[in-house]
Order: sequence, then C-alpha cells, then structure tokens
Amino acid sequence: MKSGPGIVIFLGPPGAGKGTQASRVATRLRVPHVSTGDLFRHHLKQGTPIGQLAKGFMDRGALVPDEVVCSMVEDRLGQPDAKGGCILDGFPRTIPQAEALEVLLTRLGRGTTTVVSFDLASSVLEERIGGRLTCKSCGASFHATLNPPKVAGLCDACGKAELHVRADDRPEAVRARMTEYAQKTAPLLDFYASRGALYRVDAGRRIGEIEKDLEVLLDRP
Ligand code: AP5
Repeated sequence: MKSGPGIVIFLGPPGAGKGTQASRVATRLRVPHVSTGDLFRHHLKQGTPIGQLAKGFMDRGALVPDEVVCSMVEDRLGQPDAKGGCILDGFPRTIPQAEALEVLLTRLGRGTTTVVSFDLASSVLEERIGGRLTCKSCGASFHATLNPPKVAGLCDACGKAELHVRADDRPEAVRARMTEYAQKTAPLLDFYASRGALYRVDAGRRIGEIEKDLEVLLDRP
C-alpha cells in the first residue's frame, strides 16, 4: 500500500495556479498544504519578527533571504502532520533552497520527491494575477471572473467577507516577482529534471482539467 505522496513540490511563476491546486490536492490526499507565502503572511498577521522582516521583501516583489525561508520550512516539515508528506507550494525557489531541502529530507529520512512544473504563458499570468482576490483570513484565492467565490465577496473556504487584493499584486511588484522567478527559480527546472523528478503540466487549462492530471500523477502507485 502506498503510504503517502511523499514530498510534492509545486513549481511555477507567480499566478500559475499553484496555490489553487495545492489546496485541492492536499485536501484530497489528506496531507498539509505548505505554502511559504502563506506562512510569511501568517507571521506578518501575528506580528512576529519573521513577518516584519519578510514584509519588506514581499511588498517589493523580492525573494526573502534563503536562510530565513529554509529555517521556517525546516520547522514546518518537522511537525507530526507532515510525516506522511506534504504539498510544498512556493518552496524551493532558488538552487540553495533546493540543496538545503535535499539535506533536510535526507536527515529526516523522508522518501520520494515529485516536482510539478506549472507551465503557462506570461499573458495568461497577468490576467490571473490582475483579477485575483485573496481571503485575508484563511489565504484562499479566487478570481473576480475566472474563479469567482460562490457568493460575491465571501470566501468559499471560511465564509468570511475578507477578500482583498494582495499588496504584492500591484503591477510594479508583479513585474519584480516575474524577474525574480526567471532569474532565480526557473533554473530549478533543470536541477530537478537532471534528478528525473520533474513532471510538467499545462497550467493554461481549466482548474478541473489540471486537477484531474494531478490526480493521475500523484495517485499512481
Ligand atoms: P507566494 O504567495 O508563494 O506567491 P507566488 O509564488 O508569487 O504565487 P502566487 O500566490 O502569486 O500564485 P499561485 O501560483 O499560487 O496562483 P493562484 O493559485 O493564487 O509568495 C509571495 C512572496 O513571498 C514572494 O514574492 C516572496 O517575497 C515570498 N516567498 C514565498 N516563498 C518564498 C521562498 N521560497 N523564497 C523566498 N521568498 C519567498 O492563482 C492565481 C489566480 O488565478 C487566482 O485568482 C486563481 O483564482 C486563478 N486561477 C488559478 N488557476 C486557474 C485556472 N486554471 N484557470 C483560471 N484561473 C485560475
């Protein structure tokens, strides 16, 4: 019997739909959805030093320094609910982060790693980020026209009326995030392809279609 999906990494540019799919897959496979962006936003809400530090980088669309992210992820993966695996959404994002993750997983004795690349044209990314609404309370994400909440203004996941536009979804910050992705994160595609761990999905399709592909990929024995 398969004991769990192992560590699944969702890799892709800002707005590719990683968070949308990670939340669905994690619910179905009953493993945690570990989003480093959400963890930072949670820290910020709690007013912790990590949150204060990350805010300056996030608001201008820059990556938070590797050592800060890696220690936060190490903490999270050490928690009991992540023992059977998890969906890592937005981590790693640099080669040093990927190398640190390999060392950590070896130390923790965790099994296989599957990396899913969300491939999408940049014109579609702009449209998706342009209409995104995020729940301030639970972090769920919607789109004004492409993926609206069932009841306008209310979050489907937690029911609160706290949908807003993220500070880093302003056009200047989005441009900076795209540049960071191209320079620092895209090289991870070769890094994981060389380890035979990379799977690519066409993320330009409907949410349900992508979800079905992921189901086939991640449920395989
Ligand atoms: P993070 O929160 O991870 O942002 P991101 O990677 O830029 O990803 P997004 O959340 O923008 O997009 P997504 O791919 O999850 O798309 P979504 O599902 O929402 O990181 C924020 C910041 O934190 C970073 O810039 C950095 O500063 C810092 N950070 C985080 N991790 C870090 C790390 N490892 N190292 C250093 N710094 C780090 O979908 C987008 C929109 O499209 C939504 O409106 C959604 O409803 C809609 N949508 C989704 N799928 C579809 C579809 N198939 N069809 C139509 N619409 C769709």
